[in-house]
Amino acid sequence: LQATMVLDKNYQISEVDRRIYGSFIEHLGRAVYGGIYEPGHPEADEQGFRKDVIELVKELQVPIVRYPGGNMVSAYNWEDGVGPKEKRPKRLELAWRTIEPNEIGTNEFADWAKKVQADVMMAVNLGTRGIDAARNLVEYTNHPSGTYWSDLRREHGYEQPHSIKTWCLGNEMDGPWQVGQKTAAEYGKIAKETGKAMKLVDPSIELVACGSSNTDMPTFPEYEATTLDIAYDEVDYISLHQYYGNSSNDPANYLAKNMDMDHFIKTVTSTCDYIKAKHRSKKTINLSFDEWNVWYHSREQDEKLDPWTVAPPQLEDVYNFEDALLVGSMLITLLRHADRVKMACMAQLVNVIAPIMTENNGQSWKQTIYYPYLHASVYGRGISLQPILSSPKYDSKDFTDVPYIDSAAVYNEQEQMLTVFLVNKHLEEAIPLEVDVRSFEGYELQEHIVLEHHDLKAVNTKDTARVTPHNNGESSLEDGRLKIHLNKTSWNVIRLR
Ligand code: AHR
Repeated sequence: LQATMVLDKNYQISEVDRRIYGSFIEHLGRAVYGGIYEPGHPEADEQGFRKDVIELVKELQVPIVRYPGGNMVSAYNWEDGVGPKEKRPKRLELAWRTIEPNEIGTNEFADWAKKVQADVMMAVNLGTRGIDAARNLVEYTNHPSGTYWSDLRREHGYEQPHSIKTWCLGNEMDGPWQVGQKTAAEYGKIAKETGKAMKLVDPSIELVACGSSNTDMPTFPEYEATTLDIAYDEVDYISLHQYYGNSSNDPANYLAKNMDMDHFIKTVTSTCDYIKAKHRSKKTINLSFDEWNVWYHSREQDEKLDPWTVAPPQLEDVYNFEDALLVGSMLITLLRHADRVKMACMAQLVNVIAPIMTENNGQSWKQTIYYPYLHASVYGRGISLQPILSSPKYDSKDFTDVPYIDSAAVYNEQEQMLTVFLVNKHLEEAIPLEVDVRSFEGYELQEHIVLEHHDLKAVNTKDTARVTPHNNGESSLEDGRLKIHLNKTSWNVIRLR
């Protein structure tokens, strides 16, 4: 087995929008309470935010965080979460059947986002509410002063507006699990009218319309087409959500699942462009892949949890090494669609299907999936290049012609740095890869980071970090030929300068 690739400075897909390395914090499980926020914890700051978690989020350089849901937003009253804490109501949270204490709300989250140096992607409730609550929230967060809602924010101690630029019009409105589920026609209409009012309050905002909850939804991709047909002029992005799992324990098939993600992106892009043509529009709708990850390990145990408690341990997937490989391949897929995917959120960020875990009143630790996310976010900024890759292929249960090797490359012109991301999905064999990088004249090999483990099921825990990257990858560069030894089942990051 062997593979070849050409990487040329001039084969460019697009500038990478840094927002593709976004993430997500929902009022769900221990994401907020016990995750980012735990007053009384030795690491808590003056507002109760955990400083150890802030540091990890900063290390990941997360540029934007979606909030406050997720399914939770579809029955959420944002007014419950602002003003004096002692007056805030406790509510039944219907999406996850917990009790929401509302100790954290819009203002505190905006503070936390500042601390981690991220922007906020705010979702509005289009399940139980609509135009009025949404336009009031934009006035509350973004209008400087001199009106009811902006002055209320000032009264609440926030003199300056939060200036939130990115807004989601509801969440997964096609899903029967959603409070206030809507047909595409119903949703398209409310998205259009809500978006219109929100942009009248602040014309500088950008809006994300809901697409299908995943590719298995019976109305995919008609939901996208109908929604956009109605709301094309008001919205700027359409959302995609997708989670994968390996419950049948078929690693070869599991590691191929980013091919489904690739197909999903292509289908939604085509749907956007079909409606663009139908409308004779000059405007292009781009994609916000604002929920993606692996999610399946915790599903069974979640069914046993009692309802109506505060911050139960929901969706606490413990990720293994093969999950990190698929996450790496999903990041590669996003990079390869950098021309149309302008935002993406790894769902989620802390405790809930998350790269970062915390112990209540204890330490925080890094899951296996933390590492590919870290590498892509920190090194994957610049221009996404089109790799011309020739890789041996395999067939699996659901996929044919799966390349053993996945690759994306990012050229950072300012830093004169080329970063190549590679996954070898072969379960038994290493694959040598020769890359023609002659257009990067004078560049030298800086490092070859590898994440690998002999056991695909190896996990990290609070006490043991079994899956961590090392810098001893085998590669060499001579006369514009980069020779890389890709170990079996490995995630690789190669940097040239
Ligand atoms: O991220 C967990 C949940 O997955 C979100 O609340 C929902 O939008 C999706 O179904």
